[in-house]
Amino acid sequence: MSAASSTIRFHAPSYDERELEAVRSALASHTAGDGPIGRRVEARLAALTGAQRVLLTTSCSHAMELALLALGLGPGQEVIVPSFTFASTANAVLRMGARPVFAEIDERTLGLDPQDVERRLSPRSAALLPVHYAGVAPDMEALLDIAKRRGLRVVEDAAQGIAARWRGRALGTLGDAGCLSFHETKNLSCGEGGALLVSDPELGRRAEIAREKGTNRAAFFRGEVDKYTWVAEGSSYVLSDVLAAILDAQLDKLAAIQAERARVAARYRAGLADWAARQGVRLPAELAEREPNHHIFYLLYPEPARRDRAMAALRAQGVMATFHYIPLHSAPQGRRLGVDYELPVTERIAATLLRLPLHARLADADVDRVIDAVRGAGA
Ligand SMILES: Cc1ncc(COP(=O)(O)O)c(C=O)c1O
Repeated sequence: MSAASSTIRFHAPSYDERELEAVRSALASHTAGDGPIGRRVEARLAALTGAQRVLLTTSCSHAMELALLALGLGPGQEVIVPSFTFASTANAVLRMGARPVFAEIDERTLGLDPQDVERRLSPRSAALLPVHYAGVAPDMEALLDIAKRRGLRVVEDAAQGIAARWRGRALGTLGDAGCLSFHETKNLSCGEGGALLVSDPELGRRAEIAREKGTNRAAFFRGEVDKYTWVAEGSSYVLSDVLAAILDAQLDKLAAIQAERARVAARYRAGLADWAARQGVRLPAELAEREPNHHIFYLLYPEPARRDRAMAALRAQGVMATFHYIPLHSAPQGRRLGVDYELPVTERIAATLLRLPLHARLADADVDRVIDAVRGAGA
């Protein structure tokens, strides 16, 4: 296959010899979970984000469950979530026996629309679960204000949020708890992994117990109790130190990875801005008070059929462009929850959004090939 016709991958983790060496050395040290490597990575993530406490987890999905478990969310309570998100956001709420209530997103941020959140509040509302789509915070000032006025907890789905900021503060540190993902598709990756960020030491202590199958094992290893035992409800959410070692190596490269992603995003913007303006296609807004992490570069087409045509044309040329998301309220599991209202912005965005390949290994020539394919596919 010639270079011109080879497939351009949608995402690719930035692994090299350093991750291999880190895994080799973790295995040689016989470390298990919540060991010295995991602790080091937790400290590095705390320093990076300013979080009071970081707990590595097996995934962001599990970090969200852990957060809601530690906060004591349960049956009879409602949590407001966007419908424009991955299944995990709503699953975490369902896993607690609570009810996810889907709210509309804002056109600019593609995150929760505070006005619609107000409409969805009820006496059963217990928490907000905003998503930082593409590493861009929604209107957090308004959302935090609603939470304060109504006595709601805020758990951030910052799965896509590593290295992004709102008003100088790291995503994942704005509410009671924040959840990061290190899935293979994310800017920093260990295949599958996540982290819970908390600001309140007491919440951190409850999460530490819930993460260790509901035992006080962590306190035992600190020498605070002489035996460890079952003290609360929990599950198995600890990240293996072997995977933490990969994250350790990835953190060494964070600045380089981010610089490469910024290069790709800037090249897309420069190569597509004029074309997009002529065609009525919207590029991601560059918003005040938000430091981007270049997790996703998307195009918003004026009509669903045009998006679908462009996606098919790109794929036919070996460019792995893709959609985001089937809105949760309209997905089979969402429909079972009996949502009886429409979310028109969510539905329009989901039907017209096209994500372009974006990862640190994309050469300028690949980016130019994607740009040519997008322009050639028209709008
Ligand atoms: C918005 C959002 N939430 C949650 C998740 C789940 O993350 P993980 O795969 O680490 O569980 C993802 C992953 O793609 C995501 O994009």
